[in-house]
Amino acid sequence: MTLGRRAFAHAAAAAAAGALVFRPSNWFPDATVLAQSVALKDIVPKGWLIGAAVNQNQSDGRDGVAVDLITRQFNTISPENALKFQSVHPEPDRFTFDAADRYVAFGRDRGMAVIGHNLVWHSQTPRWAWDGADGALADRATMLARMRTHIATVVGRYKGKIHGWDVVNEALNDDGTLRDSPWRRGIGDDYIAQAFTFAHEADPNVELYYNDFNLATRPAKRAGAIRIVKDLQQRGLRIDAVGEQGHWRLNTPAAGDIDQTIAELRQTGVKVMITELDVNLLPQTGPRVAGQPPSPESNPYANGLPDDMQQALAGYYADAFRVLLKHRDDITRVTFWGVSDADSWLNRGRMNYPLLWDRQRQPKPAFDAVVRVLTAK
Ligand code: XIL
Repeated sequence: MTLGRRAFAHAAAAAAAGALVFRPSNWFPDATVLAQSVALKDIVPKGWLIGAAVNQNQSDGRDGVAVDLITRQFNTISPENALKFQSVHPEPDRFTFDAADRYVAFGRDRGMAVIGHNLVWHSQTPRWAWDGADGALADRATMLARMRTHIATVVGRYKGKIHGWDVVNEALNDDGTLRDSPWRRGIGDDYIAQAFTFAHEADPNVELYYNDFNLATRPAKRAGAIRIVKDLQQRGLRIDAVGEQGHWRLNTPAAGDIDQTIAELRQTGVKVMITELDVNLLPQTGPRVAGQPPSPESNPYANGLPDDMQQALAGYYADAFRVLLKHRDDITRVTFWGVSDADSWLNRGRMNYPLLWDRQRQPKPAFDAVVRVLTAK
């Protein structure tokens, strides 16, 4: 018996989602059968959280295929945008929690560890949070009061329901100095410590994280993150883990860099998490001209990913997970920034292939590679 294309797609989608009803192993390639019968959450080291960032189509339940995949594969979720400052607190006296409430319920209904992302960041934050009179920056006391109200309200609302918060996101420059964020300009360098203080006040039991990118590729930035952790510790404040976002490129960082990063961060005593993992396959380009299609050079895989690239991606994911496994006791969570290539923020008008599931929500060779590493004894 042979299946038509549509029937195949349907059966494969159902299988990927975990409803494996039909498994003609002489017909599916072996790797596909393996991938479709396995859930990452069942094969990661004991105690690890493994997850994905979910978008609103998913947390609202509109994207049923993705919802099934997330439910089957993961034991933690992060909100791609739903809990950012501008999403929940667009005006001084107005909080908008509808979508955020559905995100939290989505995870709790499934028994997942629900992550909060994030409280204090220079991006996706409305201007009013920083504005003073006449277009100047607000003074320290005003900005601190706004920060405290924001954190107390958002963290307080989900007290006991959210497992851990990215308290401060991306506070560092690549050279390890503190970024010139409006929060820092208005409050001073201790804005980070203040944010951690407010978060702990609002929920004494919730885990608190510092989260940033390029910690594995930039040793100076990593040193800056370590200084932040030590400063919080010296002040007697709670910090549970550092998140390396893990927005990586093919072979950058190298496995050795990932290894060293985890070891160095872990030396501070806090745990390490990979919080926004994806592997960008597209060339770095300057900003696009608005309204223009991307140039062919900047979008080389517009018609599909060649097999050698597919294999290279799988190989890189395998190398990375081998290092993560080596540090199984140092790591508490690995979260992908999205589920399938169709959902990834890295497309931005181009065709990118950074995740473990393809645009049809089928597992890619990279998924099989990760499964093999996690199940190898
Ligand atoms: C991204 C989202 O994926 C996009 O949908 C949004 O338009 C911009 O933000 N670092 C972070 C994440 O901490 O919040 C960012 O998420 C990706 C980079």
